[in-house]
Amino acid sequence: MGEETTECKTTEFTTDSTAREHIVEQDDNLELYLAQIRKIFDIPRIIDAPRDKSQIINYYLMNKRSYRLAWNFEGFIHCGISYDGKRKKGDFREQARIVDTYIQDNNAKKVLELGYGLGTNSAYLARRNPHVAFDAIDISNKPLRSFTTIPNLHFCFGDYHNLSQFKGNSYDIVFVIEALCYSTQKLEVLREVKKKLTKGGFFIIFDPYTRNRAIPLSESEKTMWKLIYRGSVLETFERIDNVEDAMRKEFSIVIAQDLSTYVLPSLEAQESNARHYFNHATFARAINKVLPFDVVRHLPQLLLMPTSVRRQIACYYLHVLKNDR
Ligand SMILES: C[S@@+](CC[C@H](N)C(=O)[O-])C[C@H]1O[C@@H](n2cnc3c(N)ncnc32)[C@H](O)[C@@H]1O
Repeated sequence: MGEETTECKTTEFTTDSTAREHIVEQDDNLELYLAQIRKIFDIPRIIDAPRDKSQIINYYLMNKRSYRLAWNFEGFIHCGISYDGKRKKGDFREQARIVDTYIQDNNAKKVLELGYGLGTNSAYLARRNPHVAFDAIDISNKPLRSFTTIPNLHFCFGDYHNLSQFKGNSYDIVFVIEALCYSTQKLEVLREVKKKLTKGGFFIIFDPYTRNRAIPLSESEKTMWKLIYRGSVLETFERIDNVEDAMRKEFSIVIAQDLSTYVLPSLEAQESNARHYFNHATFARAINKVLPFDVVRHLPQLLLMPTSVRRQIACYYLHVLKNDR
């Protein structure tokens, strides 16, 4: 039997929940994608796999190379932000560029990054700001070797739930890009960060969430959503309103910007790459026999992520929090 091929239909994005019903009824590739995934993967193996700290560490160490090859060669492990809807190489730097404006505007002297991945965000910023001292912490990855010699950048190993290795009241800016989602105790992290920030300092967060929604997920949407977050060893994507409630306990929210439409182009590029793999089940199953489970488990996520944004289940936000209390 020939393999099914897929084509992606784009849907206009809207934040209106009535319009969402219309979107869900629209024909997209979700059922076909799930059928393709079932042919290649044991879905419960991905969804029910353990997701403790050691699994997160293992996952990122295993994928150090594959993320650079499949996602972004510079070493950013996050979505690009494309304001004009067209994907460009520099889009992966946009998060760091936004952090840079806060460094400049506030004449920052010390900056801390949580969950630095391969170190690319802090390396980019440290090179642009040689008189600013940067610290960065991660539980798993080693930074790329070329970043370890940047004199004003210090990489530390550790869990961002405990920042006791860093001096209190000393950082003008703390930032985190697509790493806070790993915490199921975000208030704990917010409290730790608050202790480290100067009065008036900023905590800048870029992260995916479950959109606040009135309509319950269908069974297929539930499977899609779990494949997405469990594929990267995440417990869940929390609802944005719950996380914002936690943010308000410790900080003032000065910016809450929905960037979901702007991350779609980079996600759609990954979807398109993933379709080559899922359109050829025999080939894909052979690959899965050779590569470790930790390397292939997130492939369904790449295929499904844009659908979750278009169906207004996933959202991606920038939050800027001010330490003004
Ligand atoms: C998706 S990657 C993002 C990496 C980086 N922020 C970037 O934008 O390229 C998530 C990172 O969060 C780190 N991480 C997850 N949980 C963590 C924790 N509790 N403490 C510190 N780092 C953590 C992982 O090790 C991984 O490197």
